[in-house]
Formats: sequence, C-alpha cells, structure tokens
Amino acid sequence: MDLIVARNREDLVKARAGGEVALVPTMGALHEGHRSLIRQARVRANHVVVSIFVNPLQFTPNEDFSRYPRTFDADLDVCREEGVDVVFHPAVEDMYAPDRQVSVSAGEMGRIVEGAFRPGHFDGVLTVVLKLFNLVQPDLAFFGQKDAQQLAVIRRMVTDLNLPIEIVGVPTVREPDGLALSSRNRFLSAQDRKVALALSRALRAGAAELTPAGIHATARAVLDAAGPELEVDYLTLVEPATFAEVTESYAGPAVLAVAATIGGTRLIDNVILTLT
Ligand code: PAJ
Repeated sequence: MDLIVARNREDLVKARAGGEVALVPTMGALHEGHRSLIRQARVRANHVVVSIFVNPLQFTPNEDFSRYPRTFDADLDVCREEGVDVVFHPAVEDMYAPDRQVSVSAGEMGRIVEGAFRPGHFDGVLTVVLKLFNLVQPDLAFFGQKDAQQLAVIRRMVTDLNLPIEIVGVPTVREPDGLALSSRNRFLSAQDRKVALALSRALRAGAAELTPAGIHATARAVLDAAGPELEVDYLTLVEPATFAEVTESYAGPAVLAVAATIGGTRLIDNVILTLT
C-alpha cells in the first residue's frame, strides 16, 4: 500500500481503515526517536497515522517558529520505510481559524518546571494534540519519554477530559555516546555537542545515587564541571505523573529532569529512576 498524505479531515476519513488506529504526533524533522514511536505504533495497531505539523501555538514569543527545521520530503521517506499508512500534514490556516476562541489549558502543571521557562507552551501542545485526536480519532497515541512533562500533561488531559484514547509512552532514544536525539541537535557545533553530553552524563551519575539530596548533588556537580558554556535552566527530581518535586522521604518512581542552553540551543533530557 502506498503512503497516503492527508491534508484535512475529509482525506483522513477516506484513508481510514478498520481495526485499531494509532496516532504518532510529530513536528517533522524525523529522526530515530520518531522512528521508535512509529515502530511501537506498528506493533500495536494495523493502521498507523503520523501527523507532521509545526504547531505555532506551542512556540513562545522568544522561540523562533520559522527557524524550526522542516524536512518534509525526507520525512515522507522515513514514513514509507517504517510502513506508515497515512501522513497527516495540515496547513496552519486549516488548523487555526483567525477568529478561534477556545483552547485547552494545562492548568498549574503547565506552569511548573519546563512550563515556567516556556509560558503557554503546554497549553499550545494540549490544544493541538486534542485537535489531532479529534481529527484522526485514534484508539492509541504514542509519545516519547524524552518530553516527560509533555507526556504527563497529555495523560492528565486524557484523564481530566475523559478522552477514549490509550496513551503509550516510549523510552528515549539516544546516540551511542548518550546524547538524547532531538531535532535541535543539528544546531550544535562540534564543541557544543561535547558540552551537551554533560546533560546525559549528569542524569546517569545522579540516577546512581540513592537519596534525593545525593541525586541532586551528584548530577549538579557534573553539570557545573561542564563549564560556563552550559547554562542550566533547571535540574529537578519530580514525580512522573504530576511533576511535583519529590520530598526527601518519597519512595517510588521519579523523573530526574534537566534543561540547559548551549551556544543558543536549548536542550532537555531526563531519566526515570526508583527511590526506595
Ligand atoms: P516532536 O518534537 O516532533 O516530537 C514528536 C514525538 O517524538 C514526541 O512524543 C517526542 O517526545 C518524541 N521524541 C522526540 N525525541 C525523542 C527521542 N530521542 N526518543 C524518543 N522519543 C522522542 O513533541 C512534539 O513534537 C510536539 O510537542 C507534538 C506532541 C507533536 C505537538 O505539537
């Protein structure tokens, strides 16, 4: 079967097949991380839809929406190679009417940690994801653990708004040296890239410790050792579902999350660990 490119709801309805439908939402510039999501979707559903839409709503005013990498032809090749059934690629004007009024709020969860540095970002993510869910009407949707807070707010939206969709989280895909794959890695110079390795190194070192204080201190020391080119926004240890900072007595799964800017490129990363 040839890959179908759908531009609107009508195309999607025409392309719809029986059985379980899986959606993999993306902004394109597809890499191995996206491929991993698509492969998981393939395993779970007989009809796989990948959306490719650079969502203006989730860019804050100081982030450059126009600079976001757009590699649509290469993305179509990736989707063909991975056996995707439909690529949904709407135009911005078709997704957002100029007079639109209603949107989704991520609530307090959208204002903490990553949300504190990117006001409105998670509201923009939830608004587009809900619209994509309504357009594609998937049974399952796949999201990367790489964006752990995004995954958490999407799960929260599904719970709070009773969406009949199973959310599947997929582990972070990394380069052999530990750097988490990201469409923004292309903006790193060779020297920046070396500095950026401190993120995954710090998370690994932190995860080997046993207490929140030990985890923080060890991870922070690795970040500090990377030098002034690494500008850290946050290093935090949070509960996976709420992104609330864990207390010293907390036991259970936790996410150690970091965000930093290197040479003008902002990167995020995290690891899941268990506190006993
Ligand atoms: P984008 O950054 O294109 O990412 C699409 C999906 O790929 C997200 O679920 C993200 O977590 C996942 N992903 C990215 N890098 C990954 C990696 N190294 N390993 C595993 N998964 C990875 O996230 C978005 O787009 C947008 O916010 C979107 C959800 C599409 C809404 O616009």
